[in-house]
Amino acid sequence: MREPTPVSLAALETLAADLLLVGCFQGEAPPTAGAPPDLASALERLAARSGFRGKENQHVETLIGGASGVSALAVRGLGKREQLDAVTPRGWVCSAVDAARRNGVARLGLLLPAHAETTGPAAAQRLLRWVMVCGYRYESYLTKRDEVELRLAEVQLVPPVGEGANYQNALAPATALAKAVILAREIGNAPPNEAVPEWLEKTAERVAEHAGMELEVLDLEDLERLRMGGILAVGRGSARPPRLLKLRYGSSGPRVALVGKGITFDTGGISIKPAASMEEMKYDKCGAVTVLALAALVAEQRLPVQLRAYLPVAENMPDGDSYRPGDIITCYNGKTVEINNTDAEGRMVLADALALAVEEGAEHLLEFSTLTGACMVALGRHAAGLYAPEDALASELLTAAERAGERLWRMPLWPEIGEQTKGTHADLKNSGERWGSANFAAAFLAQFVGNLARWAHLDIAGPANTSAEGPEGLGATGYGISLGFDWINSLARR
Ligand code: BES
Ligand code: MN
Ligand code: ZN
Repeated sequence: MREPTPVSLAALETLAADLLLVGCFQGEAPPTAGAPPDLASALERLAARSGFRGKENQHVETLIGGASGVSALAVRGLGKREQLDAVTPRGWVCSAVDAARRNGVARLGLLLPAHAETTGPAAAQRLLRWVMVCGYRYESYLTKRDEVELRLAEVQLVPPVGEGANYQNALAPATALAKAVILAREIGNAPPNEAVPEWLEKTAERVAEHAGMELEVLDLEDLERLRMGGILAVGRGSARPPRLLKLRYGSSGPRVALVGKGITFDTGGISIKPAASMEEMKYDKCGAVTVLALAALVAEQRLPVQLRAYLPVAENMPDGDSYRPGDIITCYNGKTVEINNTDAEGRMVLADALALAVEEGAEHLLEFSTLTGACMVALGRHAAGLYAPEDALASELLTAAERAGERLWRMPLWPEIGEQTKGTHADLKNSGERWGSANFAAAFLAQFVGNLARWAHLDIAGPANTSAEGPEGLGATGYGISLGFDWINSLARR
């Protein structure tokens, strides 16, 4: 398991680094407050180079001699001050760390100018987290390591003026978050021939033990006894039986339930997917993985909540015994569902898990799933879609996402979408027309939470993974852990 990139806080006066990278807004001078005079003047001269405007990603670099502990200096544009939001510095930070890694910089100094989005406790925490997390790469199966051996020894972050205490206080929580995110990225990236349902169970066992959570496994027999028709139907085409993993932590405080879609591989089943990009369906377990890592973090941090996490785990495969289009399935809450597309499997496993979570007394329920391609078409890879009937909960989650620096966008649960989920020969059907199919999926899930108003579905199909190598690496991102933790933390404190 990879560790977060080590980060320490430094002062410009005493900084010792191979490269100091300074952020500079367009049309402004670089931040020099606190810099020794020779460093300040070198910075100003560098930023005054003709042609340098501080435009986004513009970069000027120079070696500096003399007594300074800094061997090279770079100024990198941040674009317009008013265009910086909570998330945009992520790209800046990750590109900086990535360039340093690739160019063999062992000790990187980083300095960002003061701005509403670089100051305060939440900003400090998310910036530190990005630095710690973005150097992670999935290397478990690489036999040739010379590329990946290039590694940053340490990042020294220089807090904006007056922000020392905020950044200092954010170091420990950012490290805990970074570890959880890296854990999720590592599990999420595991290939589907390794990460089969049993492997996910064993992984959850290991994580639960380490975090001090109880794990209960509902196996095939239990699922049959409990009549969890949704999970059973989806798992039936696989040689590897499905299961429902239940995690427990805490015995007082608000009752928080987390639910995560754990499809270890989604071929689509009998309604099989086209070959192009099917390999990306190994990321169809990322909802469950986010929930596992988030639950472990809540337990390790001993937040005063009663946490229950539900991970329905199955592999969606075509087979002589697969569930088929036309089948009618009875879910755990007794509702019947006509299958018209076996590729709409996530909602079937979630139906049972959600109903159980509500039955077991959830007061606040947050569910993560890589549920629909449609949500990704709507919002791109940038954001998850937020579906929550209660405005208060929606706004809590949007605030948490903003503080965590994870993009989240509210989507509709209008009554007419619910109407579309009605079946012909059964209570419900599992898929509808093409248009608005992310909304349909959410309205379908709403049928399984009973009267609970405080539930939310996050469709993370877009941000759960990247599909091309970028400064944050390729693959699972651990999206949702940080906003989830922020939200649960607020619940615990109120
Ligand atoms: N796991 C997929 C959703 C998905 C697609 C995630 C692409 C990431 C990238 C889900 O199980 C699925 O197949 N959804 C279908 C539903 C449809 C058959 C109603 C979809 O979105 O196309
Ligand atoms: Mn599917
Ligand atoms: Zn799926």
